[in-house]
Amino acid sequence: MSDRRRILMTSALPYANGSIHLGHMVEYIQTDIWSRYQKLRGHECYYVCADDAHGTPIMLKAQSEGVTPEQLIEKIGQEHRADFADFNIGFDHYHVTHSPENRELSSQIYLALREAGHIHSRVIEQAYDPEAKMFLPDRFIKGDCPKCGSDDQYGDSCEKCGATYQPTELKNPHSVISGATPITKESEHFFFQLKDFEAFLQQWMQDSDVQSGVVNKMNEWFESGLQDWDISRDAPYFGFEIPDAPGKYFYVWLDAPVGYMASFRKLCSDQGIDFDQFWAADSDAELYHFIGKDIAYFHTLFWPAMLKGAGFRPPSGVFCHGFLTVDGQKMSKSRGTFIKARTYLDHLSPEYLRYYFAAKLGAGLEDIDLSLEDFRQRVNSDLVGKVINIASRCAGFVKKLGEGQLSAQLGRQDLFDQAASASANIADLYEARNYREAMRQIMHLADTANTFIAEAEPWVLAKQEGKQDDVVTICSDGINLFRQIIVYLKPVLPELARGVEQFLNIEPLAWQDVQTPLLGHRINKFKPLMQRIEPEKIEAMVEASKEDLKAAQAAPTTPPKATGPLADDPIAETIAFEDFAKLDLRIARITKAEHVEKADKLLQLTLDLGGETRNVFAGIKSAYDPSELEGKLTVMVANLAPRKMRFGVSEGMVLAAGPGGKDLYILNPDEGATPGMRVK
Ligand code: 2FM
Ligand code: ZN
Repeated sequence: MSDRRRILMTSALPYANGSIHLGHMVEYIQTDIWSRYQKLRGHECYYVCADDAHGTPIMLKAQSEGVTPEQLIEKIGQEHRADFADFNIGFDHYHVTHSPENRELSSQIYLALREAGHIHSRVIEQAYDPEAKMFLPDRFIKGDCPKCGSDDQYGDSCEKCGATYQPTELKNPHSVISGATPITKESEHFFFQLKDFEAFLQQWMQDSDVQSGVVNKMNEWFESGLQDWDISRDAPYFGFEIPDAPGKYFYVWLDAPVGYMASFRKLCSDQGIDFDQFWAADSDAELYHFIGKDIAYFHTLFWPAMLKGAGFRPPSGVFCHGFLTVDGQKMSKSRGTFIKARTYLDHLSPEYLRYYFAAKLGAGLEDIDLSLEDFRQRVNSDLVGKVINIASRCAGFVKKLGEGQLSAQLGRQDLFDQAASASANIADLYEARNYREAMRQIMHLADTANTFIAEAEPWVLAKQEGKQDDVVTICSDGINLFRQIIVYLKPVLPELARGVEQFLNIEPLAWQDVQTPLLGHRINKFKPLMQRIEPEKIEAMVEASKEDLKAAQAAPTTPPKATGPLADDPIAETIAFEDFAKLDLRIARITKAEHVEKADKLLQLTLDLGGETRNVFAGIKSAYDPSELEGKLTVMVANLAPRKMRFGVSEGMVLAAGPGGKDLYILNPDEGATPGMRVK
């Protein structure tokens, strides 16, 4: 068998309803480093990902923005792709789960599972919003915690006391969507019988690359018994309709991991790669998923079981990482440490963060901390102070005294060999995702190179008669050590590596290049390859993150794109449902309409509210003759505090639309409305 491995790898699919932030970037950087490393070693490796586009939150967000879900996911997809590209995340393909490939594969997998008897249906009871006319996911119900009584808690858990419960246990529950009190309603759902796969999963866990912490967790899940998994959701839902089940949709988590396959399938059809070679049950390719530890359940139980049940190969490994803290605390919007990928990129180079995360990441599940001052010092000291320093100390002398030509022989073969022999060890560390230790060893090589240059003092020799060749040899040695270090850092710092390749006037560096020195070779003029991080840059990024928060607070939902009247009269700031619910709007019949003496704009209306009569002064004189109005139904605000006006007391307000003058229209309810009816 050839040494050339076939590897397919993925990162978790980000939801298509929000921005990428630095917490996300831990995973994409971790995965990208591994993918670049595998490619540098010459393996056939593909790294795919996609936007996770389905589900209730995305459907509702689109609604609140006045766009279709397809438009929303298109817009967010573009932002995500730009963020990833600018962080040098080298996906081979980035797809979206709302794609034909995913629809086909999700259905294929579902039908295979159903055919094999792993799917059954049963009727369940669920919370339902009678006003929004939809079933409510737990996160869309709020109320008072049944344990500690704190108000405004989600339907599944309390953020104050940490209790978890059923939404039905909440006190004073209300729908986050409409404010209505949820009712319980029955519906038929489809379930995947995970238990059918227990023996398989136990074995898979032994045979695959799964961290010990995750194995422990899986054992707990086995002990507490594998539960059926509800894979369907009722309309309205943004997703794929389930075959033979109109009005039923695949739960977003069913088609999300299939999105890995779908993204790869698209890559295969674009590039002529053999899909089955990677996914067939007997495939000898490797398949790895990089994920956060919070979604291990989906990736180590459901997903391998789905693949197995549908006749595909299971993953070779699932690699979990921990969460990101900033300055030792959970990312915080108000402290400005909830930093969006784009905000970071507006201020700092992606390479800094890639290096810092690499220097912190081990193969375990522990959280990693981005300490902003440590970040600055570490990047400045390691990358600028150690690595770039080697080249900047040597390049000038090669240029000046060697006419840009590296010496034909190494002076210190021992140093070159020492750096070359670190290759196997550093490779093993990358392979094991112990980047932290890899960076430590690479920086040790940089220290050695700097010590050598400092002791050889080329700047002193350069002033001495007849020592010029020695200077060029020392500096050529330095440049060769620098080149080896850059090879080792290339998975982490692709942009720096490109700059160095240009400076050294060479083809793209490959891993094996650390074994052969660059001799008698002409290099280009040295240009600064990386700047130090100044504290102001970080301060500006933190301030901009606070501004992001303010902008989000000022416009919690984006009003629809303005055309026509909206362009001149944009929609006002969003109000809470509770605020809207304070308005008591009623149908009223205009029984009498009269001119008001000396009033330019007002008509006096007598309104029948179905048993109650109100006197209202309405500013609609410019558009209506009183005789047109009598007998008409309209809509009024019935609970507006009475207002004393010059002509009398107005007991409410009639609703009318339009800019004014002749262009003003009272609201006219449809047939069937009767005075006194509440407008909802
Ligand atoms: O947790 C999340 O953000 C999900 N969107 C991850 C999906 S990963 C895969 F299964 F698709
Ligand atoms: Zn509580």
